[in-house]
Amino acid sequence: MNFEFTEEQLMIRQAARDFAQTELKPGVIERDEHQKFPAEQVKKLGELGFLGMMVSPQYGGSGMDAISYVLVMEELSKIDASASVVVSVNNSLVCYGLEKYGTEAQKQKYLIPLAKGEKIGAFCLSEPEAGSDATSQRTTAIDMGDYYLLNGTKNWITNGSSASTYLVIAQTDAEKKHHGINAFIVERGMEGFTIGPKENKMGIRGSDTHSLMFTDVKVPKENRIGDEGFGFKFAMSTLEGGRIGIAAQALGIASGALELAVQYSKERKAFGKTIADLQAIQFKLADMATEVEAARLLCLKAAWLKDHGQSYTQAGSMAKLFASEVAMRTTIEAVQIHGGYGFVKEYHVERLMRDAKITQIYEGTSEIQRIVISRGVLK
Ligand code: CAA
Repeated sequence: MNFEFTEEQLMIRQAARDFAQTELKPGVIERDEHQKFPAEQVKKLGELGFLGMMVSPQYGGSGMDAISYVLVMEELSKIDASASVVVSVNNSLVCYGLEKYGTEAQKQKYLIPLAKGEKIGAFCLSEPEAGSDATSQRTTAIDMGDYYLLNGTKNWITNGSSASTYLVIAQTDAEKKHHGINAFIVERGMEGFTIGPKENKMGIRGSDTHSLMFTDVKVPKENRIGDEGFGFKFAMSTLEGGRIGIAAQALGIASGALELAVQYSKERKAFGKTIADLQAIQFKLADMATEVEAARLLCLKAAWLKDHGQSYTQAGSMAKLFASEVAMRTTIEAVQIHGGYGFVKEYHVERLMRDAKITQIYEGTSEIQRIVISRGVLK
């Protein structure tokens, strides 16, 4: 077993670390405060090739592996989880699905600009009554011959107003249950497609989350992804890879909080010494560091399995479940170590604590991950 990164992986990690420090850190508090989407920063991430990291160069991507993706997601998320979620959704939920299951024409038209970062994508599965229960789609797509007529509402859509290309999951035949679900490519600006107001969120406030409304939107037949009835499997398969991205995001939030707590505990003096000299703090830091390292190993294992063409369903869910819970615990402890300073925005840890929570919710709650894991355990 080899725990060493390649030269290329180390270079990519360094590039992401430098980018996070120089481009994401300045302004991250203000963007969070004012719910400002990091548009300029996302554009630069696209220029660096991070928005289509794992897409093959043939389709405008950087052809990197999933290990590099985990490294990049960790580094970006240490500083700005609102920017890193754009990287995760674009790579895992949009580009991956299009490259793996799209037609050549769909790849030429939609994947290339997404992989180059010229456009941003969104993945539209969740509905007012279908988040975890993904088979209960109320959005319908009626086959009208050479187009589908799309009607319904999607909720909590990441990149809701910044995207140009939306992958929308809809019911085409309710009687067939999950075999009657399809995935469609919907373009911003199609008649009948409207974007609802931005959600006012607890965390990842720089990310733009919206509901989307579709009223008699005519989606060309050639925009369906895969064979008739493939939509549910399409969603499950893309979410599988997405869970590695969100696990790595949670890891980054946790390791970012740990770094801040270590730095602060070496500077802050109490009882005549730095608080890092107090065993109460040392024990907290030891537990945090151990959990962060365990989360990192789970993320890297899931990525390694994906890179080697092996099943990563369970590994991805384990990584997401554990890393998101570690993100919560680590950020709470980091705030505690900072004391009163941890409760104010300038010290960054309160934002990381708020950002951590969503990693236990989106792309499958912790409860959903436990369902997936226990099925593997019991089979
Ligand atoms: N890959 C391919 N196919 C899969 C699959 C996978 N990983 N998992 C399941 N399937 C297939 C099964 O083989 C089965 O197909 P057949 O009937 O042909 O055999 C079919 O899908 C149904 O599978 P299940 O019976 O296992 O499905 P289920 O109804 O029991 O649901 C579930 C399983 C795990 C609960 C699933 O519904 C699920 O993952 N729900 C959570 C959805 C989710 O993550 N929502 C988050 C929204 S997206 C988001 O958050 C994005 C964002 O903003 C960042």
